[in-house]
Amino acid sequence: MGNTKIIAFANNKGGSGKSTSCSCIAAALSKRGKRVLAVDGDMQLNLTLSFFSEEKAFEFAKSDFNTYTLLTRNAHVKSCIRRTEFENVDVLPSSTLMSGVEYELFSKWQRETIMRRAFEDLRKSGEYDYILLDAPPTLGCLVMNVLACADYLIIPLEASPWGLFGLANMFDFVETVKGINPALEVLGVLVTKVDTRKNYFKQTIEALENLGNVHVFKEVIRLDSAVEWAQDNSKPVVFYKPSSRASKEFESVAEEIMDLV
Ligand SMILES: Nc1ncnc2c1ncn2[C@@H]1O[C@H](COP(=O)(O)OP(=O)(O)OP(=O)(O)O)[C@@H](O)[C@H]1O
Ligand SMILES: [Mg+2]
Repeated sequence: MGNTKIIAFANNKGGSGKSTSCSCIAAALSKRGKRVLAVDGDMQLNLTLSFFSEEKAFEFAKSDFNTYTLLTRNAHVKSCIRRTEFENVDVLPSSTLMSGVEYELFSKWQRETIMRRAFEDLRKSGEYDYILLDAPPTLGCLVMNVLACADYLIIPLEASPWGLFGLANMFDFVETVKGINPALEVLGVLVTKVDTRKNYFKQTIEALENLGNVHVFKEVIRLDSAVEWAQDNSKPVVFYKPSSRASKEFESVAEEIMDLV
């Protein structure tokens, strides 16, 4: 059994491509024979919906086995894991009750490391090569839990002026998290939702490279309607339409991740 790498996808800027990247990279890694667990940490259930129908997602959300019960009711991680229709990729679904999780975590003992402790045995078992964590667009105790649990952070960033502006908050937050998880490493910024008709994305990449202290993934993810059709069909685009441009881009990011970690 190898050693499990835990990678979080977080950015407090909403709609930056976190859930899409998390699900598609999970799919691309699984296609390379890696055993992957994708964990939904958001009340929007977007990661869950990337693999399951709405009906199934609501069934999981209402059950006693999801990220919400794991964080607040000591649900055992293994009992929360759901098999998908795809080989090598499992999902730990979320719940709409996650909307109240900040409040519930407040009174818990060692509240920032509940997720880390919940995943400890699974990590040690080496059952998965990668555990990918999808975070919501916030910077509270829940995201603190996600980052305290992770070895690496990937920051999906939409090529836009406000996307860049929000990045400073993210870096400050990472510094705070390092107080409880000194090993956390920012693996890189993944530029997403690039509209090649606009020139702005080039400036975004240049600005990121000028920061000098963060890796920028070589591949950028361009806008591709196949992503939306795939989501409409409850499948990551990498499985839904492997020949699409977005699929190839995510495959190449997955390769880069395998080289980096
Ligand atoms: N490459 C792409 N091409 C086209 N549409 C995309 C692409 N990537 C993401 N989208 C769309 O952009 C929207 C936001 O993407 P996504 O949900 O992955 O972002 P997010 O950061 O997880 O959002 P949130 O902050 O709400 O959790 C979604 O509607 C998704 O379908
Ligand atoms: Mg999301």
